[in-house]
Amino acid sequence: MDSHASSVTSAVRKLILEQVARAGGWLPFDRYMALALYAPGLGYYANTSRKFGTMPGSGSDFATAPEMSPLFGQVLAVQVEEALRHTGTHEVWEFGAGSGALALALLQALGSRLQRYTIVELSAALRERQRETLADFADRVHWVGELPDTLSGVVVGNEVLDAMPVKLLVRKNLVWHERGVTLGGGQLAWADVPTHLRPPVEPSGTHDYFTEIHHQAEAFMRTLAERLAAGAAFFIDYGFPEAEYYHAQRHMGTLMCHRGHMADPDPLDAPGEKDITTHVNFTGIAVAAQEAGLPTLGYATQGRFLVNCGIGERMEAASLPEQAAAQRLVAEHEMGELFKVIAFQRGPFWDAIGFRHGDRTHTL
Ligand SMILES: C[S@@+](CC[C@H](N)C(=O)[O-])C[C@H]1O[C@@H](n2cnc3c(N)ncnc32)[C@H](O)[C@@H]1O
Repeated sequence: MDSHASSVTSAVRKLILEQVARAGGWLPFDRYMALALYAPGLGYYANTSRKFGTMPGSGSDFATAPEMSPLFGQVLAVQVEEALRHTGTHEVWEFGAGSGALALALLQALGSRLQRYTIVELSAALRERQRETLADFADRVHWVGELPDTLSGVVVGNEVLDAMPVKLLVRKNLVWHERGVTLGGGQLAWADVPTHLRPPVEPSGTHDYFTEIHHQAEAFMRTLAERLAAGAAFFIDYGFPEAEYYHAQRHMGTLMCHRGHMADPDPLDAPGEKDITTHVNFTGIAVAAQEAGLPTLGYATQGRFLVNCGIGERMEAASLPEQAAAQRLVAEHEMGELFKVIAFQRGPFWDAIGFRHGDRTHTL
């Protein structure tokens, strides 16, 4: 562990221990996750570590689709352009823009069609990095720290919903508990307390079961649904519909950490130094938006969506290394099947290009 990383961990741990004490000795996991990822200046997304990149040697922790291939943004731009046209809007809003790679690809592809590109970014450190990446588009790119009261345009978010804090639930001997964090022997430790909370679907069987519920991501969708005056929204992430999410066999949940391009299941180790994430329950996301008045436009695997938007033709014209990188986005055993695109629209439906074949909205 380098000295910067260890000082981050000790500062985040100190903050968390204070919060555990203030909360009477037990902190629900969603509060823990919020501190470990977003505590100002210290949390994983708020500190200055590199995070996004394709090579472990660069000091990065994981690769996202916009980092892997510019074709991701170029092909998403086909759908965004269509959505801008159909909804009569002229702006893109991106949530959690990471290094700025997706914004750069969209701005380059959409050209003067795009009047304004606003990034909703919680992290001051990432805002600085995005400002450097997007220097050529300084006249059109703006940043805000939170969602405004009303917005119009096409919203995009890649791997944002999976980074929102979750609650952990454990069924032990048929009794449901909420898992939180306590102090044991001077160390952060797990502690479960009985709860009335339940997953949206009771997993069948009587075996012990560990899972997550996503109240913050669903609250985020409700807020977006209430504030999107005109336009559409596209979110890309890994996850499943709820019947699959809460399947009896998925008894270990989906909570995972990423550091140095390695995955590990222990979020209590080295808080602030690694990403903490869970899969997305796309049914919960769709229902939250719909109940707040924003219906689903489409839901498809990332592979199908990108093929519908023309990635195949672009790959034919690309160099071999570019083809290999783009292949990872669509291949079923890589990102093509696990990652999904879900979209919402305000106003009349249209036959969106990304969902023209293989729409799976009926599985939600
Ligand atoms: C896994 S990273 C993805 C970054 C980038 N979109 C990419 O694909 O490389 C998750 C991002 O979501 C952001 N995020 C999480 N919750 C957010 C929220 N409520 N509003 C805006 N951004 C959020 C984090 O700050 C972080 O930048």
